[in-house]
Formats: sequence, C-alpha cells, structure tokens
Amino acid sequence: MDIARNPERPDANPEMADAAPEPQAPATVRREDYTPPAWLVPEIHLDFELGLEVTKLRTTMKVERNPDGAADRTIHLCGDGIAVRELTVDGAQAEGWTMSGANLLLPLSGDAAEIMVETHLHPSTNSQLMGLYASNGMLCTQCEAEGFRRITFFPDRPDVLSRYTVRMTGSKADFPVLLSNGNCTEAGEDGDTHYAVWHDPWPKPSYLFALVAGRLVSRRDSFTTMSGRKVDLAIWVREGDEDRTGHAMESLKHAMRWDEETFGREYDLDLFNIVAVSDFNMGAMENKGLNIFNTRYILANPDTATDADYDAIEGVVGHEYFHNWSGNRVTCRDWFQLSLKEGFTVLRDQMFSAAMGSAPVKRIEDVRILRAAQFPEDSGPLAHPIRPDSYQEISNFYTATVYNKGAEVIRMMHAMAGEKAFRKGSDLYFERHDGEAATCEDFITAMEDGAGLDLRQFRRWYEQAGTPRVTMRAEHDADEGAVTLHFTQAVPATPGQPDKKPMPIPLRIALFDREMRRHGGEKLLMLDAAENSFRFTGCAMPPVVSANRGFSAPIVLDADMSDTDLVFLAAHDDDSFARYEAQQQLLTRELLGRDADGAGGDRRAAIADALGAVLDDTRIDDLMRGELMTLPAISFLIEQAVPADPGALVAARDGLREYLGTRLSGPLNALYERAAAVPYDLSAESRGARKVKTLALSLLSAADAAQGARLAQAQYRAADNMTDRQGAMMVMANLDVAEREELLADFHRRHAGDALVIDKWFAIQASASHADVLDHIAALADHPDFTMKNPNRVRSLFMTMAGNPAAFHDESGRGYTMIADLVIALDPINAQTAARFVPALGRWRRIEPKRAAMMRAALERIAARPRLSKDVREQVGKSLED
Ligand code: TRP
Ligand code: ZN
Repeated sequence: MDIARNPERPDANPEMADAAPEPQAPATVRREDYTPPAWLVPEIHLDFELGLEVTKLRTTMKVERNPDGAADRTIHLCGDGIAVRELTVDGAQAEGWTMSGANLLLPLSGDAAEIMVETHLHPSTNSQLMGLYASNGMLCTQCEAEGFRRITFFPDRPDVLSRYTVRMTGSKADFPVLLSNGNCTEAGEDGDTHYAVWHDPWPKPSYLFALVAGRLVSRRDSFTTMSGRKVDLAIWVREGDEDRTGHAMESLKHAMRWDEETFGREYDLDLFNIVAVSDFNMGAMENKGLNIFNTRYILANPDTATDADYDAIEGVVGHEYFHNWSGNRVTCRDWFQLSLKEGFTVLRDQMFSAAMGSAPVKRIEDVRILRAAQFPEDSGPLAHPIRPDSYQEISNFYTATVYNKGAEVIRMMHAMAGEKAFRKGSDLYFERHDGEAATCEDFITAMEDGAGLDLRQFRRWYEQAGTPRVTMRAEHDADEGAVTLHFTQAVPATPGQPDKKPMPIPLRIALFDREMRRHGGEKLLMLDAAENSFRFTGCAMPPVVSANRGFSAPIVLDADMSDTDLVFLAAHDDDSFARYEAQQQLLTRELLGRDADGAGGDRRAAIADALGAVLDDTRIDDLMRGELMTLPAISFLIEQAVPADPGALVAARDGLREYLGTRLSGPLNALYERAAAVPYDLSAESRGARKVKTLALSLLSAADAAQGARLAQAQYRAADNMTDRQGAMMVMANLDVAEREELLADFHRRHAGDALVIDKWFAIQASASHADVLDHIAALADHPDFTMKNPNRVRSLFMTMAGNPAAFHDESGRGYTMIADLVIALDPINAQTAARFVPALGRWRRIEPKRAAMMRAALERIAARPRLSKDVREQVGKSLED
C-alpha cells in the first residue's frame, strides 16, 4: 500500500477528525466488555433549522451521573462525520474537551449538567443513507444502529433512554410537512418559513429518533384500541402515490388488532405515522410513532404490485408495528442483544401473516427462506450465534441468523410451552421489562418464570452458531411390536467455536401405519444429548416416521428414509409441511444425483407421479399446490453437496424441469387453463390460481420453449395485474426467443418512471438463465435508469444476479468479478449496502476448487483496496480467514 497516503492518526488533530478515514484494523467490540453508561440523558431537545444543503442543529441535553455506572467525570459523546460548531456546559463555553477519533470527550465537574452542542449537517451529499439525508427532495433520518451520531454528539447506545422534544423550522414551500416522534405540540409560521414542535412522552434510545420533512401527502384512518382510545393513523407518500397506500393501511389496522388479541399489546400514543421513502438501506424502521419505510413495502396496486408484494407489505407493516412493544417499550441493552427485538418480532410477524392467510403455506415459505439464506450463513465464514459475541461493524449483524434463526429459537420455546404458557411468559417479559433496555437473558428468564420452562440447556441456542445435524434411525422389533428411534446430533464447528455441546431439540413426530395411512397422534420428543433413543409400542408393522413436523426445530435431519417412504409421506402426510418436506427430500436426492432405492429404482418417475397427483388433488388449495410444485433452491442444494458444482446443479435442475414438463404436459396444460380462467381479485383462490398458473407455465416452457413463449406472450398481453405480467416476463426472460426483447421493451415503456416497477424490470433480466445473461447485466449497469445511489435499484440488478446461480457461478468467473467490482465502486457511496454483497463471494469454501479459487481471488482484490469501509473490511476479512 502507498505509505504516503496512509491516513493520519485520527486523534492527532481534533480539527481533522471529521475527514479522517477509518484506521486500517477496525476495533472489535466484545459482548463481555459491556459496562453501564457513566452518564444518563433523561431529556434532550433538538432544534433543527432545515435545509437540503445545510441543516443546522442545536442539541440541548440534560445529563446526570448514572448511580449504577462508573464514576467517570468525563462524558463520552459519540460522533461520526460531524464537527463541533459550538459547545456549552450550563450556558458557559465548554472547557477541556477533546476529540478521541470522531468522538467528543467532555469533562464535567458536578453530578448533572446541561450541555448544548451545535452541528451542521449536509443531507444532500449523504449517500450512506444513515443519519439525516435527502431523498427525492425530502429530508429523513435513519438512526439504527449507530446513525444518530451522524446527526449530533450523544451517548449513542441503546441503554441511554431519553425524553425527546424536537423543534423544526424550515421553508414552507420545500418542507410543508414536518414530522417527528410522538405528538405535535406546537406549530406556527413566520413569512416563508414555518415550524413545528414534537414531543414524545416515552423515553427512548437514540436509534428510535426520527424526523421527516418534505412535500408529502397522506392517507388517513383511525383505530380504536382495546381500551377504547382512538388513534389517528397516517401513511405519508409523494404526491400521486396516495392511491397505492390502501393495502398498507389495512395491514396496519389488522396488525394493531392482532397484537391486542394475541399478545395483549395495546398501542400507546394518539398518533401513528408511516412515511415511505424511495432511498432506504433496509426494509423499514420502527422509529417510535413514526415508522419509516422503503416504498417497496408500502405502495401497491394490482397494476404495479405482485401477490408476493402484497404479502411482504402486510408482513413488514406488521413487523414494524409489533416493534412498538418488542423493541421500543422493551428495548435492547446493547447491540449484542439485537435478536431480543428482531428474533421475537420476526416470530410475531410470521404468526400474524399466518393468521391473516394460509398458516401452512406461510410456514413453508418461512422455512424456505431460512434454508436459502440462514443455513448458508451458518455453515460459512460469517457464522455467528443469534446473540453474537463480537463485532467490528454492527450493521453487518442484521442477518438471517439474528432475524430468522432468532425467530426459530423463540418458536421452539413456543412449541415446548404451548400456546397458553407461552403467552404467560411473554406477558411477564413485557411487564417486567417495560421501559427498560433488556437482554436476551432477561427474555429467557421471563420465559422460564412465566411459561414454567426449564431453559438451562436451551441457552445454548443463544451461544452456539451452526445448524445442528441430526440423524434418525428406526429399529423395529416385530416380536414385541415396538419401534425404537435412535437419534444422534452434532453441531458443526464454526469460526471461533471448534467444539460444540449438544442442543435441546424439540422434535415433533408421528408414526404412520403403512396400511391404514394414519398415525396415532403427534408427539413432541426432546433430544438433549449426542445420542437419544425413544421406544414406542403398538407397532406390529414397521411404521413410516414423519419427523420434524411443522419444522419444529431449525436443524438438518437425515432421517435415513427409503424413497418409498418419502413417496408415502409426500402422498399421505396430514402435516402440510411434512408432506412438502418429503417431496423436497425426493427432489433433493434426485438433483444431487444420489442413487435411487425402493420401488423399481426410477425416482424420476416416482417424483413425476407424486407431482402429477399434486396437480389435481382437490384436497389442497392452489396456494399449497404452488409450494408442492416448487423445486429446491440451488443455494439449498449447494449446502447439501460439498464441494458443490453449481453448474452441474443448475443443469440437473433444468433437466428435471424439462423431464417433468414433458411427462406432465397434459395435466399441466389442464391446470394452466383452469387457473387462467379465474378472474383477478385478492382472494386466496384467485392468488392461488395465479401462483400455479405461472409455475405450470414455467415447467411447460422448460419442456417446449416454443409453446412456453406462445403462452407467456399471451399471458403477458392478457394480464390485468402485475403478478401475471411479471410471471410471464420471468418465463420469457429465460427463453432464447426473439419475442423476449420485444416484451421487455414493452414492459419498460408501460411502466417508465415508476421506480418500483422498473426495479422489477432490472430484476427479471438479472434472474434469467439464458447464455447471455452476464452481457445483459453489464449493459443494464450502463442503462440510464441505473444508479448506484438507490439501494433498491442496486439490489434489483446485482443482488438478483448474486442469487442467480446460472449468472453468478458462470464458469468464466465473470459473475464474481462483477460483484467484486460492484463492492469496490459502491463502498464509498453506501458502505452498508456494499457489505451485503460480500457473503455471496464468502461461500467459496463450499464450491468446487476451480470456481472457489476465482471467488477467493475476487475477495482478495477487494481486500487489497485502500480505504475500505469498516463494513466491507469486516466481511472480506472474515471471508478470507482460515
Ligand atoms: N430495525 C429495522 C427492522 O428490522 C432494521 C433496519 C432498518 C436497519 N434500517 C436499518 C438496520 C438500517 C440497520 C441499518 O425493522
Ligand atoms: Zn425489526
């Protein structure tokens, strides 16, 4: 590295702190090092003079010594990319303060003080989208996890809770709407400017602060809570988008009612605001009383949003609303406890979506996401427990592990306790810790005390990373009419955790009588050791064992089943998840090229028969039928075959699709015709019809491209909704036919200027599996509609490509090069988003050697760049570690 360009020590000169790059080795923060804050900030007053180019802020805080903290005379105020303009203590010029890196250290003489600090912010040039930034001419904030320190100097840690009063002054023309947390207590005008004062009565950590100012319009509604209080609801969007907010509003009201009925949680302010912004790093943010959303999780109408979009909106609106209790009223002591709010809130949003729609289908979808996103994380270089022990950059820990595995862990507690006792546990948790910054340990203890569970060994789920591998073997004793199930379990080594202890694993099982095709009731087995055995009597014949029903534990189960037994369960299991699972197992075996056993040895034919039975089984609805028609994700298959050859897996999947499309062309055509006749609405029947229609089309086109193109073309032309239109486009995008470009051009023309739909246009092309897909992606990166400044757009092109094995794992290695180039180019613009592309390359150890070497080389090329962000450096460093 060029020594002359080595950064100066950031603390050498306080004036330089603002511009100083990160030091080369980012500091590691450890969970065991937690100490309570020395100073508390019971009250804070923020006074903003708003401007897109410059926003001036005076922050006034009342600080006092924490009786439970260290006796430190100096208060540590975090800062990030901001400079001190003015600083007073109790009204007098502050003395003796220093900068430590970007942070402000201020010695105080008494036990309490009033600190005033002035900072200037530059929202228009804030491309990181953390702190205060501009999006489409409007001002908004994102403070979780450590964005508040980009706004003002403050003890920016979640265990410092303050009452906020916010005053905003700004141009009436530029910022007609002024919003912050809580209630508006005062407003007025003065010529061209106006002001508003907002007060939030609930003490909160700084990461829940929010401000929005801009030209916005709202849809309004109201909700009457269980105790009879009326809450005003508003969803704020850009002018012209109001007619696309109906579904989000309905979802919000459903969520508010559901949380009262299911968890006894009532909303606690008179106003609930949601704002949709188009430039956003994540899905949405639960700021107290002022949720801020990525537009993609708010805006929907039939012409622009798919059925999947409608579901995602309902889930995310629910998720952020549920945080009002699991996250806001009870918050996190430190960021190692992130799963305390996120794992629990994901479980709550999953339960909510299950209650609003089809519970079995929702469960299958959630398990599919877990396996496609979390299992690979858990078996790779970035594996971490749901409660991590250390981090360099906390933004890198908003992961499928913390969120989705975190939800599975609490779901297991739910399974062990049962509905009623679980509710007692959650009630006790909320009651005990209301208004506090709590820990995962607090949650576990409340569950032990309230639900009556013994969770001593269960704590390992919070401590150990890695997906447990469980084997099951059934031993039948014909003389005694008994069967014994023998289990072994092992948790694989993960970075920093070479040796693992056995986990408690709640396994829901049923023993099927082969002839009667029935079972004698479900049982919940608790595995708790490296080896466990359970004996059951009353089995004259060897039963077919249906295990891990409902996916009661997030494990990999090798049940040592014959193909014949899997075919049996795929046809007869009464647990929808288990039925789906048996079929996925069969498909997985076939796609991995495992030897067939059992009936005649022709597994392909058995799979086709099973799928054929699914296509016209009147006992299942179309939404479920769609799940049973879906092949396992390549990312899941890669986990099953180490080292994996992605090219071979893609070829195997395409081959199987062609075979199934050919073998089942009659019933698939019949299904297609039936589904195509169902008119559009949002009922489960109509959505189900659309789901199976496009899946049938996709299989048919794999068998006969010409017929597929014809049908897709017709479906596209006839479509009166985005689900059908996008489905047809996706099928068409895979085909090497002339009509492809014509449809893509038509789609773009039709939806020009509609950012969320143009995102789909990029994603459809990036998900294609034809031979020229990488050329197309490279050309799309130069398209006038492409921009590195908008995370949705970047993700729609490049995250879709990174998740498309036919493109990303192209044997030339060009997919890896393109992702590395992207990370390097995006890092200075939006480090958080750039870092999210690194894990795809980090999975090199599970891939065959030729590709693995190219993936590694791509990572090394990133690592060699000077001035990488802390975010990217952590991910790349860990991905290359031995
Ligand atoms: N707490 C948010 C959620 O899960 C996540 C989030 C939104 C976030 N924006 C962020 C996390 C920015 C890190 C950075 O609902
Ligand atoms: Zn969340």
